[in-house]
Formats: sequence, C-alpha cells, structure tokens
Amino acid sequence: MIQLNENYLKLKAGYLFPEIGRRVKEYQAANPQANLIRMGIGDVTLPLVPSVIEAFNGAVDEMGKKESFKGYGPEQGYEFLRQAIVDFDYKKRGIELSIDEVFVSDGSKCDTGNILDIFGRKNVIAICDPVYPVYVDTNVMDGRTGVCLDNGYYEGIHYMPCYDSSGFLPALPDKPVDLIYLCFPNNPTGTTITKTDLKKWVDYAIRNKAVILYDSAYEAYIRDSSLPHSIYEIEGAKEVAIEFRSFSKTAGFTGTRCAYTVIPKALKAYDPMGNAHPLNPLWNRRQSTKFNGVSYPVQKAAAASYTEKGRKEINEVIDYYMSNAALMKKSLIASGFNVFGGDNAPYVWLKTKNNMKSWDFFDLLLHQVHVVGTPGSGFGPAGEGYFRFSAFAEREKVVDAMSRISSAKF
Ligand code: MLT
Repeated sequence: MIQLNENYLKLKAGYLFPEIGRRVKEYQAANPQANLIRMGIGDVTLPLVPSVIEAFNGAVDEMGKKESFKGYGPEQGYEFLRQAIVDFDYKKRGIELSIDEVFVSDGSKCDTGNILDIFGRKNVIAICDPVYPVYVDTNVMDGRTGVCLDNGYYEGIHYMPCYDSSGFLPALPDKPVDLIYLCFPNNPTGTTITKTDLKKWVDYAIRNKAVILYDSAYEAYIRDSSLPHSIYEIEGAKEVAIEFRSFSKTAGFTGTRCAYTVIPKALKAYDPMGNAHPLNPLWNRRQSTKFNGVSYPVQKAAAASYTEKGRKEINEVIDYYMSNAALMKKSLIASGFNVFGGDNAPYVWLKTKNNMKSWDFFDLLLHQVHVVGTPGSGFGPAGEGYFRFSAFAEREKVVDAMSRISSAKF
C-alpha cells in the first residue's frame, strides 16, 4: 500500500495566500456587484519595464534562430547574469563575491524551502513569529517538526516572537540553535534591522557554529542609507550566512520568475564527527541534480535590470510603490491606527482597533468596504491582532481603498 508523506497531514491549514484567495472568490461569487480592491498578497501590478522587455524579446528571437538557439543552460545560471549580480548588487557595496558563489533560480520561495536539502535533520531551527509562512511550512513538510500545538506553534521549532515593543525584532535565542531564518526588510511587518543589530546575529552564529538564512527579497525598497542591503555588509557574515534575493519585487518578476541565492565558499557546516565542510559544493550538487536552470530569455531580461537605463526604470517603479506605502501609512494613521513598516518596505503593518482578531478584521474590511488585506495571524500567533497591506496596488486603487477604510465602522 502506497504511503503518503504524513508530515503534510501536520500542516494547519491551506497556504495563507490561496486561503485568502478562496475566501475572496467565495465572497465575490455571492456579491458580484462588489468592487473589490486587493492589497493582500504582495504581488506587483505594474508591467515589466521597457529595458527588460526589450532584452526579453531579443532573447526570444535568439532562441528562434539556429545560430543563436540555446538548449540546456548552466544549472547555476548564465555567467552574464551572475557577473551582473556580483558587480552591481555586491561589489558596489564593497562586498567581494565570485560568480560561483551565486546560484540563479526561479524564486526565493523555492530556494528558502529547497535549501533544507543540504542541512542535517538534527538541527535546531529558529524562526521568527510573525513570519513569511514558507519557512515554517517547508520545515513541517520536510519532517523537521512535531505536531502543531494548541498555541499555533509546531513542536521542535524554536520560535522567536517579535513584538511592537522591540520594533518587531527577534531576541537572540537563549539556547543554542543551528539554523536561523531572518528576513529584512521584513515580510510581514515591513520593519528593518540596523547594521549594529544584524552584527549581533552574525556574532551569535559565529559563536554557536550556526547558519543564518537571510532573506533580503525587499532590499531594493530600503530608503534609509544607513540600513544594510545585504548581510555580507557585516564582518564575518560570509562564514555564517546564506542570502536569498529575488527579481520579483525588485524588477516586477513575480510572474516571470527569477531570483538568486548566495552561498559563500567560506560558509561551512559540520558532519557528525565535527569535521567542517563547505556548503557551496553541496548546493551546487543539489541544484545540478534537481534543477535545470532558469530559461535564457528570463535571465537576459533579469540582466537588463542592471543596465543604466534598466536601473532607472525599475527605480521609478519602486518609487511608485513606495509612494503608495507613504500614502497608506499617512491615511491609516489619520484613521486612528497604530501603523508600522512602510518606510523601507512595501508592506504596511497595523494593529487592529479594539483588539479585533486579524481574521475578523479581514472579514469586516471585505464585507463592509470591499478591501482585501492579509490577516496578521496568518503569519503566526504573534501576528494575531495585526493586519498587513501590500503597497503594490495601482495608485487610484490605493487612494480609493484608504478612503473606504477611513469611512469604515470598527
Ligand atoms: C507576500 O505577499 O508575502 C509575498 O507575495 C509572498 C511571496 O513573495 O511569495
């Protein structure tokens, strides 16, 4: 008799965003006249910029000609893209990387899940709460946790609750942990970490021979020049951190799919005898076996975002979304909400009024003013009583949504 992976049976509910989609679809079917404004999932709405499209089209044309056609590409990504990443995203910030420390992929969501392949099963995993749900769910699916307890936490995970009182920053674990997930600028709270605070994590990881999985998918939204864009801006981080970056939110690639993961050669993990081994060759081996690379036209399109013209164009798009965030923040504060994030991230995080539960707030907004956001509790128990809005909507819709919320009765 065929057996299933019973770890999947431990998962609490459907993945957060499809669950929101399901509820919204149900509501829309019952209320077809409702003009819904969607600010739930952090999905971009503006089209790919002209430089990216031009490169994309050019590469598609190349694929249609015998002399420039390409079959399988390198699993790690084409050199032209890896070189652009190394030069633009790192060298310009004083970080030296070689191209074989960069692995191009089809998304950070996949990479943050797949990375577990190269880590032993006895590692103690530390995860923030609230958090991007992928980190928790992939650990559950992979059998690295026990069951979900009544308090919403899975057995076996070391949770790091993040509260308003500490700027939604996690506290250093009070016991040794091995694999630490950090995401800054943060999804879902939109808050950031300073170099001084990030250094504490790097030092902790060095002391404890731990590895930090650093998700910096939203670094392009940083406006405060003192904040780190990369964990490798911190001394010693190359020995203890893997960094995930994505073109999704930086260049509008949520539907086009391109991202990359950096695994420095200095980063090591240990076998049961305590011998150190570099992780870079393990990930290379994993990718060569289980992944066939990102398509050539997509990589050409991604590389175009690094040209001078491409950079200018994508910065205009990012500025547009950040103006949305500023507008949302101002309006929500004027409506009497306690609001966080939104200054260096495309997410605005708010405390609901009258301690309303997150999903009740979701239903109220959906039913009363037809605005869709994301319930904070969907990101973990500490997100209960909070709510997230994404700034990726079109301006007129943001303005309309804010005016509707200001007239809602809570
Ligand atoms: C979000 O809304 O949190 C993001 O869109 C999720 C993602 O990037 O996968």
